[in-house]
Amino acid sequence: MNFTKLCVLGLGYIGLPTASTFATHGLQVVGVDVNPQVISTLCNGGLHIHEPGLRTLVEAAVKSGKLTVSEKPEEADAFIIAVPTPFRAAPTRYADRFGEYDGQMYKLADMRAVTSASEAILPVLRKGNLVVLESTSPPRTTVDLVAPILERSGLKAGVDFHLVYSPERVLPGQILRELIENARVIGGITPASAQAGRDLYAVFVRGEIVQTDATTAEMVKLMENTYRDVNIAIANEFARLAERFGVDVWEAIGLANRHPRVRILSPGPGVGGHCISVDPWFLVEAAPDITPLIYTARNVNDAQPHFVLDLVKRALGNPSTGSGQGLKGKKIAALGLSYKPDVDDLRESPAVEVVHLLQKEGALVKAFEPFKTDADLPGITAVSSLETALKDADAVLLLVNHSGLRALTPEKMAALTPARILIDTVNGWAGKDWQAAGFRIFRLGVKQIKRET
Ligand SMILES: NC(=O)c1ccc[n+]([C@@H]2O[C@H](COP(=O)([O-])OP(=O)(O)OC[C@H]3O[C@@H](n4cnc5c(N)ncnc54)[C@H](O)[C@@H]3O)[C@@H](O)[C@H]2O)c1
Repeated sequence: MNFTKLCVLGLGYIGLPTASTFATHGLQVVGVDVNPQVISTLCNGGLHIHEPGLRTLVEAAVKSGKLTVSEKPEEADAFIIAVPTPFRAAPTRYADRFGEYDGQMYKLADMRAVTSASEAILPVLRKGNLVVLESTSPPRTTVDLVAPILERSGLKAGVDFHLVYSPERVLPGQILRELIENARVIGGITPASAQAGRDLYAVFVRGEIVQTDATTAEMVKLMENTYRDVNIAIANEFARLAERFGVDVWEAIGLANRHPRVRILSPGPGVGGHCISVDPWFLVEAAPDITPLIYTARNVNDAQPHFVLDLVKRALGNPSTGSGQGLKGKKIAALGLSYKPDVDDLRESPAVEVVHLLQKEGALVKAFEPFKTDADLPGITAVSSLETALKDADAVLLLVNHSGLRALTPEKMAALTPARILIDTVNGWAGKDWQAAGFRIFRLGVKQIKRET
């Protein structure tokens, strides 16, 4: 199938790079967003999101006349839906579905944007078109939610128009390269739909393009992130076990990973971001009765900030008994707020949750996020420099393994802070001789034998 004109709905981290890449590869692209600010920013030559190389790409696409933006879809050969699918906490829906509420707190996919984007395509959908859903979605969304909406046009999915699910797996910071180089899964509601999807992405994808059915493609995306979430949950439980048994979990994981078929991920203060901490819920929502492991892994990771709180209490507690004496009035410099190293993204970040927990216990926390020095978070004192965070601290807490923070030496730290207690939740300061510089260091997943026996 040949494509001349494409409409991309949702111009965020996924939609805008995708629309621009198709435009610079020769397609006429209309980028659609319901947020008027996004449209006016782009119309005025601005950019509302940060991604390396994106400004140059968007400028090239606009300058060539191949990329235009609009608040409404237009007739086209193909449509790509790349709108948000966040979650919302809602325990009660299970009462509707299973007859009774089981007392647990679940998180459910918010599919309103996918619904309204599909509805927006309805008036311009034509025979022979291809519609692609890229938004991460619960299993069967393409066949059970999107197809029935589009069929309100009177056209039949898989017969009159092609319908495909194709997950996006790009890494923020590397989106432009990975968009082109990553393998791409194309799930069609019929083999002919999958073939049409393949023809579209073959315009620029250099990685392998693999065809399957739509529901398999939805599962693939959710399985990838769920696998990582469960793997991190077991690493977090190993960290708890290591503390109990006087073992250094980081060393133990390093040794276990020398087994040729073992690959344990790293423990830490929890799991955040808009993918790994969200996507497993889509599987739990779709089938709560058969997903106890996935549900438990989510809870293990969500509970991890409380283990960090315990570690901080022990670090600031009575050295002779090892017991915590409360954190009231203790000044803590919390370093790193983002959900993972070397990014500025604070969404669902466990580091933010740790700061809230410390403050609830009465600690006076100054937080510093080197990738977002103007972070404005309700209830959190975020300072704009490392020096300010450290200068009058009683303890320093490393929450994110940012390269700049990891690089701090004992000498530099000693010069910047009167604190001599360091708490490392990400193994960022391992291998440095903190003791020689007068520090006591407490690491997540490492029992402080001297203090507690
Ligand atoms: N960002 C990532 O790294 C990443 C990676 C893989 C998958 N995903 C998935 O891709 C999807 C999009 O994510 P994102 O990060 O690009 O989101 P985003 O929040 O950056 O952008 C989404 C855009 O869609 C717009 N929008 C909302 N409703 C709309 C509608 N009805 N019609 C047109 N536009 C609409 C919003 O205004 C926003 O500009 C999500 O399902 C996400 O889970 C994202």
